Amino acid sequence: MQNFSYWNPSRIIFGKGTMSEVGKETAKWGRKVLFHFGGGSIKKNGVFDAVTASLKDAGLQIVYLGGVVPNPHLSLVREGIALCKKEHVDFVLAVGGGSVIDSAKAIAFGAKLPASQDVWNDYYMKADYTIAEALPLGVVLTIPAAGSESSTGSVITDAEHGLKRAVNSETLISKFAVMDPQTNYSLPAYQTACGASDILAHLQERYFTTVEHNDLSDRLLEACMRNVITNAPLALQYPDEYRYRAELMWTGTIAHNNLLDRGRVGDWATHDIEHELSALYDIAHGAGLAILFPAWMRYVHKVDIDRFVQYATRVWNVDLPLSDKEGIVEEAILRLQAFYKRIGMPTTLADAGIPEDKLRFMAENAFVGERTYLGNFQKLYVGDVEKIYRLAL
Ligand code: NZQ
Ligand code: ZN
Repeated sequence: MQNFSYWNPSRIIFGKGTMSEVGKETAKWGRKVLFHFGGGSIKKNGVFDAVTASLKDAGLQIVYLGGVVPNPHLSLVREGIALCKKEHVDFVLAVGGGSVIDSAKAIAFGAKLPASQDVWNDYYMKADYTIAEALPLGVVLTIPAAGSESSTGSVITDAEHGLKRAVNSETLISKFAVMDPQTNYSLPAYQTACGASDILAHLQERYFTTVEHNDLSDRLLEACMRNVITNAPLALQYPDEYRYRAELMWTGTIAHNNLLDRGRVGDWATHDIEHELSALYDIAHGAGLAILFPAWMRYVHKVDIDRFVQYATRVWNVDLPLSDKEGIVEEAILRLQAFYKRIGMPTTLADAGIPEDKLRFMAENAFVGERTYLGNFQKLYVGDVEKIYRLAL
């Protein structure tokens, strides 16, 4: 286990009826709130009205900015930054999923940048994580998936140039996240499944490390993976059952609040490779991960086959003779793909209608900016990335 520091100050307010606490929590940090939201699901399921009422009860002023799309656009981030400056907003509240939260994070630090700096060119494209300050940010989460509610990350898409890039900084951790699993009842099945796929990916990216002797993290990650594998199909079968929604929602937060990769180095190549897919073809992030994770596993597993055997036996209960390690790993990958299929995820590029003509372009695009290689378990270069896309055809 490597040395580490861990700090995550995001207050998690979890459970039934918690949306009424948004106003009180927000009032600890600001008076004039940018209420940032997506394409309108919150107006249909009552979240918009509940959050507005709570903010008004607390005597707060509200400036609304809706219209965040999945794979959120830089153009709306720029609009939000200008709006915050014009209206002298002092708090940003994200009400929605990872896309809304990530857009809100970009606005929150963009609004504090000096005029000489640009949120996209100087931070996302440079992978510059030295974000000095940001407006305080709160979250009302409506979909368990990205883990952005208490993560350090924000992922934004420059739709004009087809680039999707991330920043990571403790400055971007929310002050609080209100999480009522009942808000998930209105999720389309496909979005529930995409969320489960993303949560599982966050656990797997942390699991596949070359750092040894970090058993506690292994065991915690395995428990979380098994929890997703058990509860995602149940949430799909019984969309209004609180307990399955609650399991997924809490696991989604734990999976990405950085607790589970302390003392080790995770991988994240699959995420980086996926971001090219969703930037170019605008598919859901979780769907892209379901397509690419098995391909990545087949490509890199020889680096440490024993780690993959451990994953196969402890997470997927593969019970084949230990003399056949390759067979054990392949069986685990097949079970992973069967899980994705069962919850309605695509498992090949063809399933998602993605042609093979731009695989080289996407592989090269993944290196635009300040990147020399992707991943850590095995360092990947352009040729490797192209081969992984090909394995996913
Ligand atoms: O826009 P609305 O109308 O709200 O609809 C959304 C959207 O169409 C809908 N939805 C959300 N909650 C709902 C609902 N529909 C009905 N009822 C509800 N309760 O779901 C759709 C998807 O929303 P989105 O926010 O895009 O989903 P998700 O949370 O999966 O976020 C995906 C984004 O997060 C990034 C991804 O790359 C992607 O851009 N990620 C961010 C991370 C981070 N900041 O730490 C880490 C992740 O790995 C990920 O990369
Ligand atoms: Zn993800």
